[in-house]
Amino acid sequence: MDIHVLTLFPEVFPAVLDASILRIARASGHLRVHLHNLRDHAADRHRSVDDRPFGGGPGMVLKPEPVFRAVEAIEAELERPARRILLTPQGRRFCHALAAELAAEPALLLLCGHYEGFDERIRTGLAPAELSIGDYVLTGGELPALVVIDAIARLLDGVLGHEESAASESFSHGRLDHPHYTRPVEFRGMRVPEVLRTGDHERIAAWRLRQALEHTRVRRGDLLGKPESGNASPDPGPGLHVKETAP
Ligand code: ADE
Repeated sequence: MDIHVLTLFPEVFPAVLDASILRIARASGHLRVHLHNLRDHAADRHRSVDDRPFGGGPGMVLKPEPVFRAVEAIEAELERPARRILLTPQGRRFCHALAAELAAEPALLLLCGHYEGFDERIRTGLAPAELSIGDYVLTGGELPALVVIDAIARLLDGVLGHEESAASESFSHGRLDHPHYTRPVEFRGMRVPEVLRTGDHERIAAWRLRQALEHTRVRRGDLLGKPESGNASPDPGPGLHVKETAP
């Protein structure tokens, strides 16, 4: 998969992209991340990308021209069309099901905002899907873009080995993961549940399922069918429609 990122701060990305699973995903060719500096697409000699808001108010707003120029330049070079995604606290809440949907795309173009926000014509003219990673405002879209890249990369076929299969993790079946244990059998008076040491795979699977359901009921009852009030975003943006995962 190809992920293009349009950002004013490309220097934020390498440390995360060069570590752990993202490093492996890139080294093995499953994931290619292309960083594009928005400032390179500014039209004036000051390379300005933002301006004061019409109507007054605090902060600066990202101008439409550099963003349109950048998107058009990036897309002109693409072999396969990329899904445009704007990272914004006003977007649809990112979740496992969306990560899985995006992991099936051949290419993505992530647009990272900064400052007070985007000129609205970036939304209306480029019609990106809009994603939020949670109900809080970050300084910019760079960390959200890394969150999205990380969540997607581990779902790409062949990235995780059998041992770490994403299928058994939290959220993949609409519930949280079961508890995990490793050696020692006893640590500071806390013992590994005996069932995990029996070698009886059926009993172990049943225990894990019970634990996962109990964890989910206690911590995240909303995943088991109760509506999650904070996740109801009326307009997810074009093309982002995720079916609810059955518990
Ligand atoms: N940009 C700023 N805050 C954000 C958030 N919570 N999600 C996505 N993009 C953002």
